[in-house]
Amino acid sequence: MATPLFHADLTVHTQSHDYPIVITEKTAIDHESMASQIAPYIVGQQVLIVTNETVAPLYLEALQQLLEEQFTVKVCILPDGEQYKNQTSINQIYDALMAAHFNRDVTLIALGGGVVGDMTGFAAASFMRGVNFIQIPTTLLSQVDSSVGGKTGINHPQGKNMIGAFWQPQMVLADMSTLKTLPARELSAGLAEVIKYALIMDVDFLTWLEQNLPAMMALDLAVLGEAVKRCCEYKANIVAQDERESGVRALLNFGHTFGHVIETHEGYGNWLHGEAVAAGMVQAAELSQKIGWLTCNEVARVKRVLSLANLPINPPPIEVQTALGLMGHDKKVKQGQIRLILLKSLGKAVLTSDFDAQLLTEVLAKHHSQGTTESIL
Ligand code: NAD
Ligand code: GLY
Repeated sequence: MATPLFHADLTVHTQSHDYPIVITEKTAIDHESMASQIAPYIVGQQVLIVTNETVAPLYLEALQQLLEEQFTVKVCILPDGEQYKNQTSINQIYDALMAAHFNRDVTLIALGGGVVGDMTGFAAASFMRGVNFIQIPTTLLSQVDSSVGGKTGINHPQGKNMIGAFWQPQMVLADMSTLKTLPARELSAGLAEVIKYALIMDVDFLTWLEQNLPAMMALDLAVLGEAVKRCCEYKANIVAQDERESGVRALLNFGHTFGHVIETHEGYGNWLHGEAVAAGMVQAAELSQKIGWLTCNEVARVKRVLSLANLPINPPPIEVQTALGLMGHDKKVKQGQIRLILLKSLGKAVLTSDFDAQLLTEVLAKHHSQGTTESIL
């Protein structure tokens, strides 16, 4: 077995159970190490691997063969894309489980990015009122964010991630070497969530990223591994404090309310989630500046670091009333009031509804009138 260049083990503490995150850099999901890492977390004999049409040809065979040595393994291959993150795909997973006559002892394994992970988790949360699942995230975004913390679900045509459940995995295995096949645009989308952690909680990490983003974009797996580890540490810490998002966990949604408007308005899949979050973080930073919390130079720094990661810094033009209407569907809306994550300073975020609505309108209107001229999409 090849010795990994990078390896880290973390633990996520939750109310239901504690579970490990293993971050490793091997040689393309190698057999022996997968067996030793995953098998202990499969309690029964039944395994359903859920993946998609893109990831299956890359990584399914190795995983399936290995697991078949010990377990009864079935596979469900979903169509690829955010536009398929819906009830039809969930039904496909249920159909595969029913056709195999699997029961409460089944373990679902999500092999893929955040879309596969969120849907597999939701199917696991709801099949027979809840069965085990394991996350094998294969995109940077899913390694640093979506595979950890137990948010699962699907989209509704009128809103992102509107239907779902909190349901924690039994383990997360992030193999950095899977990033070698990830398209550059997807890697950048993942970097948006990495940059998010720096902006909301650690300005030193922002400086680290400014220095290390070129190496990450050149696929230096050890540097990427270090970034994934740091992000998972931030996330595990937050999830341990606030698993169900009644407080501090909401800060992880920095840029997301603006971003969800873009994703919903443009049609799921046209803007990548990470791209929409990037443009959304700029809007949130601009609103923070209007309130007087960030300086003009700090907003410029936010734009620079996102641009360094090849991310868009302007949303597409969206009519202000439409944007406000879409924001009204956000899960953070309370008693009709839009609540946003804003930056008190770089590295310090707050959830607030305490801003002048006119300032929000100005931020939305600026981008509506500017269109995408500043965007690098
Ligand atoms: P994704 O799952 O659509 O994956 C991106 C693309 O990369 C897809 O085409 C996929 O097939 C492909 N792919 C995956 N792994 C690959 C690999 N190793 N090599 C080549 N291609 C590969 O997108 P994503 O960015 O991973 O996740 C976005 C989703 O995650 C959104 O639905 C978002 O709402 C969700 N999300 C959830 C949470 C959470 O806490 N649950 C957090 C953030 C985002
Ligand atoms: N991605 C936000 C969260 O997990 O809470």
